[in-house]
Amino acid sequence: MRDWLIALPKAELHIHLEGALEPELLFSLAQRNRVALPWADIDALRAAYQYRDLQAFLDLYYQGAQVLQTAQDFYDLTWAYLKQSAAQGMVHTEPFFDPQTHTERGIALPVVLEGIQAALADGRRELGVSSGLILSFLRHLPEAAAMQTLEAALPYRDAFIAVGLDSSEAGFPPRLFERVFARARAEGLPGVAHAGEEGPPEYIWEALECLQVRRIDHGVRACEDERLVQHLVDIQMPLTVCPLSNQRLQVFPRLAEHPILKMLERGLNVSVNSDDPAYFGGYVGDNFVALHEHLGMTRGQAGRLAENSLAAALAPRG
Ligand code: HPA
Ligand code: ZN
Repeated sequence: MRDWLIALPKAELHIHLEGALEPELLFSLAQRNRVALPWADIDALRAAYQYRDLQAFLDLYYQGAQVLQTAQDFYDLTWAYLKQSAAQGMVHTEPFFDPQTHTERGIALPVVLEGIQAALADGRRELGVSSGLILSFLRHLPEAAAMQTLEAALPYRDAFIAVGLDSSEAGFPPRLFERVFARARAEGLPGVAHAGEEGPPEYIWEALECLQVRRIDHGVRACEDERLVQHLVDIQMPLTVCPLSNQRLQVFPRLAEHPILKMLERGLNVSVNSDDPAYFGGYVGDNFVALHEHLGMTRGQAGRLAENSLAAALAPRG
């Protein structure tokens, strides 16, 4: 079953490239770029990968991203992610990156894009993995900063397939970003947004109504609002669920209590994704295997989850 789940062709629709930075690469880039790290060695860094909530994880994730400086660094990061995930059945991916995490510390957007795009092109050619990049705004920063980021990215419009919204959720509702998502849509860029990971079901309603998103990232807290669940079923809104992430960030501390299969059987359009594979202990195939081991997911259910991921892609496949 494990081999079958790994080989199953699947798309990944919820992965942050900065979250694919494995400790080994993090240390080697720190050395290459002469960045001082607060951890003595790789083991000490790994020992820090225990999170009481989303913010505890984000603090570490933004700190780790400081080692990314040159186009080659972004290439190495993206290529390592593609190779690892292609070996787990991934045939298509729509990764996020957070421009503000890099531009805020003086790394120019074209440098970031050059490395990521070169790796995605090699992924298409050498691994047969099709892809489309999503420019994600940091919601703990003001909408004006997101708008500036979008304007600075528009000269590279063809590099992106959509815009996203991530980072600290509680206290930063989607409605705050209504104008920047409207501006993106006017440029032909659809939106997706993290909602209902730690935030309440109202944030999912807002992502739908204020941001007019095409997918909800996470969305697991929809289960607390039956009217919302019925609406999401009716419109077949894709929800990009991340089981190992939810476990590690204490959204569902026990994987056996994760609702993804109940959501699938309720008719919700759910898929399986890794979110931040280096920080949460597994790539997309590992997430499928964990669902089989902890929730008894059947082949039929795995097949439907994989089909949902392929059907919810925004970028063309192949
Ligand atoms: N949630 C919000 N922001 C993020 C995440 C996440 O799980 N991972 C990286 N940025
Ligand atoms: Zn995420």
